[in-house]
Amino acid sequence: MSDTPVLAFEDVTKVFYKGSQPVVALEGLDMAVREGEFVSVVGPSGCGKSTLLNLAAGLSPAAKGRVVYRGKPVEKINTAVGYITQHDNLLPWATVRKNITMGLKIRKVPAAERAARLESYLELTGLKGFENHFPAELSGGMRKRCSLARTLIYSPEMVLMDEPFSALDAHVKMIMHKELLRIWDEQRTTILFITHDLVEAITLADRIVVLSARPGCVKQEMQVDLPRPRDPFTLQTSPDFSVIFETLWDGLKDDIYKGENV
Ligand SMILES: Nc1ncnc2c1ncn2[C@@H]1O[C@H](COP(=O)(O)OP(=O)(O)OP(=O)(O)O)[C@@H](O)[C@H]1O
Ligand SMILES: [Mg+2]
Repeated sequence: MSDTPVLAFEDVTKVFYKGSQPVVALEGLDMAVREGEFVSVVGPSGCGKSTLLNLAAGLSPAAKGRVVYRGKPVEKINTAVGYITQHDNLLPWATVRKNITMGLKIRKVPAAERAARLESYLELTGLKGFENHFPAELSGGMRKRCSLARTLIYSPEMVLMDEPFSALDAHVKMIMHKELLRIWDEQRTTILFITHDLVEAITLADRIVVLSARPGCVKQEMQVDLPRPRDPFTLQTSPDFSVIFETLWDGLKDDIYKGENV
């Protein structure tokens, strides 16, 4: 893994306005993601995690500070990154097949290769047999898997993932973790992965960044030195896993409880 940051947030503040009322989503956020690294961001609901990805994708500007991608400030849509958004944005009028292969078509990938890659991603995401369905005819979890296939199929150099597995049941989630780790191991795509789920973050990531309650800033960072390849089905039983979990949970729990008014 190289030390060069692919993506860097430098003292980033993001403010939204509801009328004249400001909502500070992020404040003084500093973090970087290195080439080939898998970074997970965890933090309480509303602390600015999706906002962070929107800034990296160039969908909205920072109020203060800079978001830098490969040494250049992100000032317009960042087409180098693939973005799996929290609320899937599948095209409602297009079938699963069209939704998944759209990125390949735009990139002028020949039809035979499109068909071959489609087959393998339908297999991978368990959508085989549903290629002619429309998004409205899929379950929530299937829509999530379709979004995942649609982005991973064209192998973007960096992938932003916003809680991509949150709608999946526990077992399907672990299967997807295994597959994502396999794909990442093969392609060494740089991944910035948002989740609420600490177990998921530890299972997948090289490094975990914990954000504070809103306004979000980096509260804690932790390297996950668990050996790879990791088996999502057994990893949780390792004592090293428990130590990492407890350390992170200690840092996170006060903000989570505060957010939930417990
Ligand atoms: N377009 C917007 N206009 C106004 N306020 C916004 C907008 N987008 C986000 N916010 C506010 O910014 C804050 C951070 O929102 P964001 O969606 O980034 O949180 P999050 O950490 O992703 O939460 P969750 O875990 O629930 O998905 C929230 O208070 C939210 O209300
Ligand atoms: Mg969010």
